[in-house]
Amino acid sequence: MSQTTTYESIDAYINALYAPEDEVLAWIQAETQRAELPAISIRPFEGRLLQFLAQMIGAKTIVEIGTLAGYSGTWMARGLPAEGKLITVDASSKHLDVARQSFERAGLSERVELVQGNAIEVLPKLSERGPFDMVFIDADKDSYLAYLDWAIDNVRTGGLITAHNALRGGRIIAPESDADQLVQTFNQRIAEDPQLNGMLIGVGDGIAAALKR
Ligand code: DHB
Ligand code: MG
Repeated sequence: MSQTTTYESIDAYINALYAPEDEVLAWIQAETQRAELPAISIRPFEGRLLQFLAQMIGAKTIVEIGTLAGYSGTWMARGLPAEGKLITVDASSKHLDVARQSFERAGLSERVELVQGNAIEVLPKLSERGPFDMVFIDADKDSYLAYLDWAIDNVRTGGLITAHNALRGGRIIAPESDADQLVQTFNQRIAEDPQLNGMLIGVGDGIAAALKR
């Protein structure tokens, strides 16, 4: 890249082309601030990328681990057919209260099911409703490996497993915390597990992606 072109300007260019925020997405971001939820949602083009990946595999069912305010969920659910279903899990009822409003505003309430609880406890109960077409992991990094195990067991053959923060703000190269180290192990597992056909999509904070063989 030339020295005058920054990653920020490239991100802005892609956002403007493919991920302009409508009033619902803008409301979710504003409400995230107002309700003092953590400002760690995915970026617009990351949302568009997840939606695009869902559409590439013709996803009808998606499980999201880590709802937050429903920003990523809105992007993904908009990529589902009308009869599709996003099941989104979060430990925080405060997060889910905002997310519920987000999906209502987006006209997606029928297509989205919110599940409150610790994903480690909730996911095994969801298994009977699988296998699912896609899983998106974007919750506590401590449990990323456990979420990956569940995802491998619960996506269909040809289904897609995705995870946010695969680059950890660049710290993936030289981990500075246990969470960075765990995501490094997670990426290694995606790269090497013979059950997976994986790739690290190095845009935004990195989307780890793998098709189940
Ligand atoms: C953190 C978590 C995220 O999912 C994210 O996208 C950014 C930061 C965090 O826990 O710090
Ligand atoms: Mg994240």
